[in-house]
Amino acid sequence: MRYYIGVDLGTSAMKLLLVNQNHEVVNSVTKAYDVSYPHPGWSEQNPEDWWNAFLAGIKELTANIQTEDVDGLAVAGQMHGLVVLDDKDAVIRPTILWNDGRTDKETAYLNDVIGKQTLSERTANIAFAGFTAPKILWMKNNEPENYEKIAKIMLPKDYINYRLTGVHACDYADASGMLLLDVKNKCWSKAMLDICGITEAQMPKLFESYQSVGKVLPEVATELGLRNDVTVAAGTGDNAAAAIGTATIGNGKCNISLGTSGTIFISAEKFGVDENNALHSFCHADGGYHLMGCILSAASCNKWFCDEVLQTEDYAGEQKDITDTMLGNNEVFFLPYLMGERSPINDTDATGVFIGLRPNTTRKDMLLAVLEGVSFAVRDNIEVAKKLGIEIAQSTVCGGGAKSKLWMKILCNILNIELQIPQFEEGPGYGGALLAMCACGVGETPKDLVDCKIKETIKPDAELVNRYQKKYKKFQMLYPNLKELYKEIKENDYE
Ligand code: XUL
Repeated sequence: MRYYIGVDLGTSAMKLLLVNQNHEVVNSVTKAYDVSYPHPGWSEQNPEDWWNAFLAGIKELTANIQTEDVDGLAVAGQMHGLVVLDDKDAVIRPTILWNDGRTDKETAYLNDVIGKQTLSERTANIAFAGFTAPKILWMKNNEPENYEKIAKIMLPKDYINYRLTGVHACDYADASGMLLLDVKNKCWSKAMLDICGITEAQMPKLFESYQSVGKVLPEVATELGLRNDVTVAAGTGDNAAAAIGTATIGNGKCNISLGTSGTIFISAEKFGVDENNALHSFCHADGGYHLMGCILSAASCNKWFCDEVLQTEDYAGEQKDITDTMLGNNEVFFLPYLMGERSPINDTDATGVFIGLRPNTTRKDMLLAVLEGVSFAVRDNIEVAKKLGIEIAQSTVCGGGAKSKLWMKILCNILNIELQIPQFEEGPGYGGALLAMCACGVGETPKDLVDCKIKETIKPDAELVNRYQKKYKKFQMLYPNLKELYKEIKENDYE
């Protein structure tokens, strides 16, 4: 039996999947690590923590098989994070993550001074605080001594690949989220590199996600107990990998991911741009393209509310008494902007809000509002797609949120689309394993390999759709009314 490993380098944990040649998931291991929030709205992680999780995870994952039967691996990583190495390959500073909002000045400079239109012409996207280029500028402006030391720039999953193979590589799909790639032509944008004061020599070599970047270095192979000719695929960002894992390829297919972030991912064969740039226009891991909307806090809102407020680990238990009659009849609203928000509002000042609390409000009402608020924020992105003429009638859903039947019912009726729940919620890890197979020559492109077994299909219910339509109209009024207040509160904070 041949084996392939797909690794999801997530924000709360690394999830490793062992998949055999018949596409069966035979083992999985999760290794949690911390996020540090050194300042309100900032988030960082130490790449060494990822590497340690990877080493321990691979050993555990392969403990019960003949390790010489492992042929390939691929990492699907959290996107946009800035990993910087010096000329001795030492990490210069902790990675500034995808949901970090510290770069509002740099983002404003890019969007307002360089100009959204110029950015869009060069990269197919505008600047969002979490993207990589604004972070490089932030280092330049705030940590010049660190900035001067930068010899190599890479994304989180590329750091694992670099330690594994010694090859400084990145794939087109993940590179798209740096705001440094000419997405349409699949090459670095010299003009964007110039703006950040960096050169192509500091940037990774580009690959398709399913191409091999090299073999595991002998000393690492020995440490991991693997063969030293194990193929390492370029891998990709977690959303593109989840799309591969859920067979979201070709034209107009949709996958929704409810992990720490929430995303809608719409695959396309040909390059296209949202003319308002609310949705990202990125390369796809299948060699094509996609549009994506990303909300910064999704299942993380449920985690926060259960862990910090309700002080419970029993997430399912908290949901079990929420009845159908409560759905859409809840007076409480929740805005899920715990880390500010990316798509479509692009506002680092936004924060989470509950509204509609009364003396008889229960924990169930508040929890329901959290699940609904995240679903409404996903709908905001689906609405943008609709305005572009993209009709989404059906979507797969993956990520931790897909495990909750209640949440899936809410999401289905808020979006008014049919939801398909795959057998494995671990979309990125499974997609990673398929990319690894491809890099080993099992298929020419991921198209030859994708398969997604659907465990359950959820269809909208006319009455719930109607109730949620009314509630969504009210939800839509909240942010525009808070926008100025958010700014004011933040300004007062720093006085
Ligand atoms: C997508 C994004 C997030 C991270 C989460 O643009 O920033 O979905 O990839 O890991």
